[in-house]
Amino acid sequence: MHTDQNPYAPGSGVRPPLLAGRDEELGAFDDLVSRTAAGRPGRGVVLTGLRGVGKTVLLDRMRDRASDAGWLVVELEGRSRPSGRACVRRQLAHGLALAARRLRGRGMTSQAATALAAVRSFGVAFGWVSVDLGVEPAVGRADTGVAEIDLQETVEDLAPALTERGTALLVVVDEVQDVDLDLLGALLTVQHRAVQRGWPFFVTAAGLPNSPAVLCDARSYAGRMFAFRQVGPLSRTSAESALRDPARAAGVLWDDDAARVVLDAADGYPIHLQTFAACAWATAVDGGTITRADAEAGVERGQAELDAGFFPGWWDRASELEQQYLRRVARASGTAAAVATVDAAPASASGWASVRRSLCEKGLLFMPGPDRVALTVPRLDAFVDGQATPDEGG
Ligand SMILES: Nc1ncnc2c1ncn2[C@@H]1O[C@H](COP(=O)(O)OP(=O)(O)O)[C@@H](O)[C@H]1O
Ligand SMILES: [Mg+2]
Repeated sequence: MHTDQNPYAPGSGVRPPLLAGRDEELGAFDDLVSRTAAGRPGRGVVLTGLRGVGKTVLLDRMRDRASDAGWLVVELEGRSRPSGRACVRRQLAHGLALAARRLRGRGMTSQAATALAAVRSFGVAFGWVSVDLGVEPAVGRADTGVAEIDLQETVEDLAPALTERGTALLVVVDEVQDVDLDLLGALLTVQHRAVQRGWPFFVTAAGLPNSPAVLCDARSYAGRMFAFRQVGPLSRTSAESALRDPARAAGVLWDDDAARVVLDAADGYPIHLQTFAACAWATAVDGGTITRADAEAGVERGQAELDAGFFPGWWDRASELEQQYLRRVARASGTAAAVATVDAAPASASGWASVRRSLCEKGLLFMPGPDRVALTVPRLDAFVDGQATPDEGG
């Protein structure tokens, strides 16, 4: 059928036609917004889950809800490369300046002027920000170059202006496990202060399953500061809505056994569901119905697309030795393998600990418990097993 009418949205961070089955998570965020409006303390949300499970698009929806409520929003994305450190600081400085511009509307109050001057200082300290705020940088405020001090002073100076307007500042952080400890610590300290002092400032984040541990390593009190939500595969009912509703809206029906083929193959994973559904749609010739044969061809083609794009995107980040270790984890199978089992067969001369650490840093592995390891990419195991195996000597 016509590709320009294909409603499905395969791809990292690509907004799905229907965000199915995430009402509970959105409810946790709505709770924060309504509590803040009522002047009551609330907690930011932290979403954790495997790759492709739908964290980014859910975080986007939360950002939209905050914007709809008139909040100022700044978006950050952690990056594992060394250059990411400077990049995420620039994102923060630039995002703060763009958001703070909204405080200029409807006449400049003294609170707004103080806030803008601090944001300007922060911009000077953390990256060249060309956004015109119409004020000079504050002297002796938010200008030390130390993230924790400067961010705290900026938020402190923003708070009265935000309160005056009945709004709040939300910092949305994706891939939070990759934000450097220095900046992450600063965000957490300021969130902590904000709770104590009643500043309308909130952090809401998404990341891999190791994110809670990363947050707690950065600041021990982080575990109590957020509403943590594990984002998992969609329930069968939600997956079915995600599959059928967008087609129905376009006047196309899935035969029951066609739907079953895609739902079984996707097993609740949104990235798989969108990919298979999009391919089945592209295969279908009858304008009004997607048949079982279309669905089977769609799954096959979709799997080939994932094997050519989504999986290698992660796999190729690993060195040969690291790939060997990933294979062992995949073979030890289950959702979380015991480190002892994975490490047991002949080890590399220096042991596997450093390989494991590096894979965790690259975001390919995580440790769901002190002595367990698991892959961060769902169903990477089948792909990993299909890769040519160089002789591992065991
Ligand atoms: N709740 C959902 N319902 C339907 N499709 C979804 C849902 N969540 C995510 N998707 C789709 O899944 C894919 C991966 O989403 P993404 O947010 O990038 O995952 P993550 O950030 O966890 O890696 C995208 O194609 C997106 O459209
Ligand atoms: Mg994501």
